[in-house]
Amino acid sequence: MKSPLRPTATCRPPLPKDFLWGTATSSYQIEGAVDEDGRGKSIWDIFSHTPGKIEDGSTGDRANEHYHRYKEDVALIKALGVKAYRFSIAWPRVFPEGFGQPNPEGLDFYDRLVDELLANGIEPYATLYHWDLPQALQDRVGGWSSSDTSKAFADYAAHVAARLTDRVKNVFTVNEVGRFVNFGYGWGIDAPGLKLPTAQLNQARHHVALAHGLAVQAIRAAGRVGTRVGPAENIAACVPAIPTPENIRAAEIATRELNAGFLGVVLEGKYTEGFLAYAGADAPKFTAEELKIIGAPNDFVGLNIYAPQYYVTASDRAPGFHVLPFPTSFPHMNSDWLRVGPEVIYWAPRLAAKIWNIENIYISENGTSSEDKISADGQVYDLDRIMFLRNYLSQMQRATAEGVPIRGYFLWSLMDNFEWIFGYGKRFGLYRVDFETQARVPKLSAAFYRDVVARNAIGG
Ligand code: BGC
Repeated sequence: MKSPLRPTATCRPPLPKDFLWGTATSSYQIEGAVDEDGRGKSIWDIFSHTPGKIEDGSTGDRANEHYHRYKEDVALIKALGVKAYRFSIAWPRVFPEGFGQPNPEGLDFYDRLVDELLANGIEPYATLYHWDLPQALQDRVGGWSSSDTSKAFADYAAHVAARLTDRVKNVFTVNEVGRFVNFGYGWGIDAPGLKLPTAQLNQARHHVALAHGLAVQAIRAAGRVGTRVGPAENIAACVPAIPTPENIRAAEIATRELNAGFLGVVLEGKYTEGFLAYAGADAPKFTAEELKIIGAPNDFVGLNIYAPQYYVTASDRAPGFHVLPFPTSFPHMNSDWLRVGPEVIYWAPRLAAKIWNIENIYISENGTSSEDKISADGQVYDLDRIMFLRNYLSQMQRATAEGVPIRGYFLWSLMDNFEWIFGYGKRFGLYRVDFETQARVPKLSAAFYRDVVARNAIGG
């Protein structure tokens, strides 16, 4: 007699055939080697060495020693079966002072890394700025408070493009403006730890948008023809609380208005009237010429998507949406801020694609922290991460099945690393890292992800 319990094949359709599966990291979070080969200091070196700033008192001085262990780490990427790897370049390795003379050894490490990736059949996706601003720029011109930093960023982008775009075909400019400007320059939580008044904060964000636009120009001028470029932004992610047509429309309005300060101006070449009216006297100062530079076309848009930020409903009153309060009982992952709302990875790309007519979206980050304890048998059974991924990936698949143009997905992160103000206390990796011995051990989620990638479908 046949068992009534038959394992079902996945009932969901596969993802698009050429869907790009990948994983991601960033320079300061993994490289270590902070004093080697002429690297200058970044704002995160200074900040992490300031007592009281990092929860466990740690720094990125050693981190994952990836600078020396990159070959081993590329083998870990390969073992996942993914076709792409998103890493970031440390600006202070390339220009130790932020501008002026480039360090002759500054890009050698990335040359080696890129060659190693390509030799293993992995496509490099480079990010130019994942928060490690040269400290010298902060000291001399106030960092992002000055448009001199935007110009310095364009020179850095040109230098990288000239050297690497024979092999690196895809470049992300800036990572998560929505976080590093507010947290670093507004609330004093991240480096450089400033609490600027709103007008100056808006101006700093404008300088980052300008830096992005100038970098796009610089890469097109100095890079190989066909180099693709775009931002990687933690979009303020809005979800209709109940998906009625009115609430969906409200979520669209909310997405446009709440992202007006960066994604909006980059993708529309102008600030929305709502944004300017709300900012009033604190609105950034800008010229028409700057808006033109900022609004130059991108080849793709990267969206970092973790948690739903705003559940909205329709409202008759301006601005046309109502943001609902979160109940304290709303579930979250091992990081308190990481609320579980898998539908966000469906709605945010869908709404963004519609509002801004985007043709190519990458999920440039998604993932979660987990307790990640080692069991008695030496394994890490991170079932909560698998639960998280299964649900988020299913929602992403729902989006691609409906034609939302998501072309690829970069899981954050390849391995546990320096999680900014949480130090090494929060683990986001598919591989567990012992920061004493530097041993890397695959967690159960690595096997889960390998299976997803191999079948191009989400199991379970
Ligand atoms: C950042 C990463 C960070 C991750 C998890 C993103 O905000 O880009 O650097 O480690 O989220 O917090």
